[in-house]
Amino acid sequence: MDIRLVEQPVKDVQCDALAIGVPYRKIGQQKKELLLAEKARDVNGLLDGQIQAMYDDGEFKAEVGEMVTVHPMGKLVAKRIIVIGLGPLEKMKAQSIRRSSAIAARHAQQTGAHDITLALHSDEWSIDLNDSVQAEVEGALLGLYTFRKYKQAQANGYGRGMTRIDLLAADHANESMLDQAVDHGAALAQATNFARDLVNEPPNVLTPTELANRASAMAKQFGIEYQVLDRPEMQELGMGGLLAVSQGSNEPAKFIILRYRGAPEHGNHGIALVGKGITFDTGGISLKSPEGMHQMKGDMAGAAAVIGAMQAIAALKPHVNVTALVPTTENMPSGTAYRPGDILRIMNGKTIEIVNTDAEGRLVLADALSFAVKDGLSPIIDVATLTGGIVVALGSVMSGLFSNDQELGDEIIAAGQIAGEKFWPMPLDDEYKEAIQSDVADIKQTGGRYASSVTAAKILEHFVGDAQWAHLDIAGTDFNDAKKPYQEYGATGVAVRTLAEFVLRRAE
Ligand code: BES
Ligand code: ZN
Ligand code: ZN
Repeated sequence: MDIRLVEQPVKDVQCDALAIGVPYRKIGQQKKELLLAEKARDVNGLLDGQIQAMYDDGEFKAEVGEMVTVHPMGKLVAKRIIVIGLGPLEKMKAQSIRRSSAIAARHAQQTGAHDITLALHSDEWSIDLNDSVQAEVEGALLGLYTFRKYKQAQANGYGRGMTRIDLLAADHANESMLDQAVDHGAALAQATNFARDLVNEPPNVLTPTELANRASAMAKQFGIEYQVLDRPEMQELGMGGLLAVSQGSNEPAKFIILRYRGAPEHGNHGIALVGKGITFDTGGISLKSPEGMHQMKGDMAGAAAVIGAMQAIAALKPHVNVTALVPTTENMPSGTAYRPGDILRIMNGKTIEIVNTDAEGRLVLADALSFAVKDGLSPIIDVATLTGGIVVALGSVMSGLFSNDQELGDEIIAAGQIAGEKFWPMPLDDEYKEAIQSDVADIKQTGGRYASSVTAAKILEHFVGDAQWAHLDIAGTDFNDAKKPYQEYGATGVAVRTLAEFVLRRAE
């Protein structure tokens, strides 16, 4: 994709689609007025006041993501104008621009456009211009994402048909600042789309070995250190959780380590990002029911999120060290599979009594968290499609956030707000510990049906030592079951941008 900043009179802009963002403002209790910033004013003038007329007529209310298209019939060089709402100015956030940009770009692509020019930012609004431009680029690239590699080409231009995105800058713009905002937005969106690809790949293609290969290839391309541990090394380290979950599968488990050293003077200290990498979760001996089992190819979305975040971090180069740890395996039933009743020893020495082999995520994470602690890393943030319970609690709107450190939790929520991703604080009260007490081991693997996302987090807590730690349960937010105007069916790439934003803010 070619992304450029262009400075041109709006009349002369040559493209298949020109997207103009327009907010409105409330005046008093009842009345509202459309706000046409510089570029929108020009377009409205060239179109003899059509945009204003559509608003006055009630056809277009300028709410976030609301869209009308106009064919300028030669009054402008652009083939088509997409007028896209940005909502009330008082509530305008980067997310309004990100969303609307995604909708406009996606619509343009689906209707055959090959290049688009965006004008969804203005220095006439209260929102920071760089944030607007970043969100505009980010939104467009996120909205254009498709996963069609296993479908025969379709004739309607739907697919990766867009080859160029231009941003229409104001005449007096500070170009180097805007260039930076463009690069920032592009890096975050490309990293998110990379994570989406990993999740969308079918489980026969994206095995643990393939996940390790793709992570290594990314690390090589972006110049960060990588290492992949195999079974003998896992045995040496005592990774009893990862080894047990993988023993039923013919695919070898991998433990992926990526290291970004942005602050070498901090030695080995730094942030750890840990991702659950179950490339397919059948439930194992405690087999899942068939409905929806195919979606368990997405049980490595936590891994995808941290690998994607590492790509963004490597591209944006913050002054801080970050290590990503990904335990990855399938969870399969077979004659060699681990069973309910087994007792496992995790890397930090604690034992777990298995009661349900479908609760495999906490076992592989227990080893990875122990590894992070042994490595002296803090804070540790893990990301996992961990429980059905979080889907019941929060649905597909918000991810669950558990943390042993209030400030860390608040920082992640704030980073999420900037990134346009929502996290909701969940409890880690010690009374929940009762449910995971075992008669035969240090911990029981599951705490039953009630508050299952909380008891799962309480298990993880046993493996974080004294580190500052947060756990993000993304089981409800990693996958889109319904097509949306800003995003197609499939992986969302959730948490990539929040993690990257968190790391960037830590580095400041
Ligand atoms: N991968 C699942 C959690 C999940 C559920 C992800 C729905 C995405 C959508 C996890 O491994 C699992 O099976 N968890 C069980 C644990 C239970 C057996 C204690 C759950 O939450 O139902
Ligand atoms: Zn499971
Ligand atoms: Zn799982």
